[in-house]
Amino acid sequence: MSTAAPGRPVRPSVAARVLRRTADDTALRPYRRFALTPYSPTIGAEVEGVDLAAPLAPEVLAELKRALLEWKVLFFREQRLDAASHTAFARHWGVPEVHPFLPKAALPEVVRLAHDEAQPGVENVWHSDVSFAPAPPLGSVLRAVELPEVGGDTLWADMAAAYDGLPERVRERLAGLRAVHDFLRSFGLLMPPAERERQRALHPPVEHPVVRTHPETGRELIYVNRVFTDRIVGLPEGESAELLDLLQAQAAHPEYQCRFRWAPGSVAFWDNRITQHYAVSDYFPAPRVMERVTITGDRPR
Ligand SMILES: [Fe+2]
Repeated sequence: MSTAAPGRPVRPSVAARVLRRTADDTALRPYRRFALTPYSPTIGAEVEGVDLAAPLAPEVLAELKRALLEWKVLFFREQRLDAASHTAFARHWGVPEVHPFLPKAALPEVVRLAHDEAQPGVENVWHSDVSFAPAPPLGSVLRAVELPEVGGDTLWADMAAAYDGLPERVRERLAGLRAVHDFLRSFGLLMPPAERERQRALHPPVEHPVVRTHPETGRELIYVNRVFTDRIVGLPEGESAELLDLLQAQAAHPEYQCRFRWAPGSVAFWDNRITQHYAVSDYFPAPRVMERVTITGDRPR
């Protein structure tokens, strides 16, 4: 039965969208040290059979590193991390960093993201973490501390699949473009003027390529986001805003996304270089408390 209104035909079928999970999908190997369940064809997989608080055997760690590159976000259930073991797990990927602005938990490397009726959730804008830094984080490990009964899910978007999905004429237009990322667009808005000036001196605006190449997989991906990206260098203001809007809108396509429903003990670990995320703010006035450790990354190229 057709659902089209009279006189308004449904668009006939268009060319199938081909989603690539990796640069070379033929090279995939199975995982032998844990069970892995994909959440979508290109992004997100749940890992079963790994205790993140225990020492990790080199073979397990090697497979987790491969899985993070392949699936971009890994989910773990029923974990029992505290600030120390959370940080220790992140350290397998690099040096945990101290966030310049967000409140801290039991260790300076652990950010505490707490929302309740006094502080509604504000992370419901597509972004990658700390892209205003010259070398933004490799990844973030987020664990649930206190959750609403329902709601407060997080979504992630695969920005390489999103780049692949752009029309060719748009991809050609992006070659060589750079964009300015600036903390003043978000954290800076809440600071008193004197503090803003002080932080501005410590964190000047930075330029990153609009299309970044992932340093480990070689995938090209969209590297602008709605929270921190201010403008595209060298374009008139209107043209820059229009192009940024088009690129940032790519994260909102469900075809490039996965969605995670948190439970007590849940942990999500994402590759912050190739993904963006969005924390659904649908649980007000219930509390939602999360703790996050981010791992130092490299300069986007
Ligand atoms: Fe974030």
